[in-house]
Amino acid sequence: MKVRIAPSILSADFGRLAEEIKMCEEGGADVIHLDVMDGRFVPNITFGEKVIATARKATPLPLDVHMMIWEPENYFESFAGAGATGMTIHVEAAPHLQRQLARIRELGCLAGAAVNPGTSLGAIREVAADLDLLLIMTVNPGFGGQDFIPASVEKVGRARRLLDETRARAALEVDGGIARDTIEKVWRAGADTFVAGNAVFGASDPKAEIAELRRICLETV
Ligand code: DX5
Ligand code: ZN
Repeated sequence: MKVRIAPSILSADFGRLAEEIKMCEEGGADVIHLDVMDGRFVPNITFGEKVIATARKATPLPLDVHMMIWEPENYFESFAGAGATGMTIHVEAAPHLQRQLARIRELGCLAGAAVNPGTSLGAIREVAADLDLLLIMTVNPGFGGQDFIPASVEKVGRARRLLDETRARAALEVDGGIARDTIEKVWRAGADTFVAGNAVFGASDPKAEIAELRRICLETV
């Protein structure tokens, strides 16, 4: 299985954002993860369309926008126009999940659904065929640098089985507290896409850290 490392720019230096993104690209990142927060669905406020457009200019890598916002559909068009290649919405904020995912695909983007630590995987089974990506949150969303929630490992295993049983071809992503000491467990449990903010941007050599996270997975069979 392929390992995809997705640095989250939430922990980047925004004064040098384009360079930070370029550095991730040079370090072998597969995807750039952009955390949009509205101060309502989660307590923090981050950024929107303009930063997505800045990232688009900085790199040809895929841009996966993690939308921690209510009524995400209000932003699908503008984010796609700004250069997002994927949009991931939270099931907790998506009462019409199937329709919302279909709309993301209509706009030419990959469609993802995210579940908070306290949310069951039940709703996901119903839309498995409509998913390009399933994101299991391994912290409660809102901030970078939080501790990985250990119970997530077993949930990732259940998510893997759900995707296999439904023959879904979605990527299985984890986000929150992913670092050298946690990535192996979620990789073993079946995740293939790893968001890392603090682990990458807090490292003395971020490029080497991206390679190290990948190496830990690939050397764990
Ligand atoms: C948290 C965000 C994450 C965050 C992860 O709400 O969704 O993408 O940047 O940061 P780390 O890797 O530092 O936990
Ligand atoms: Zn995220």
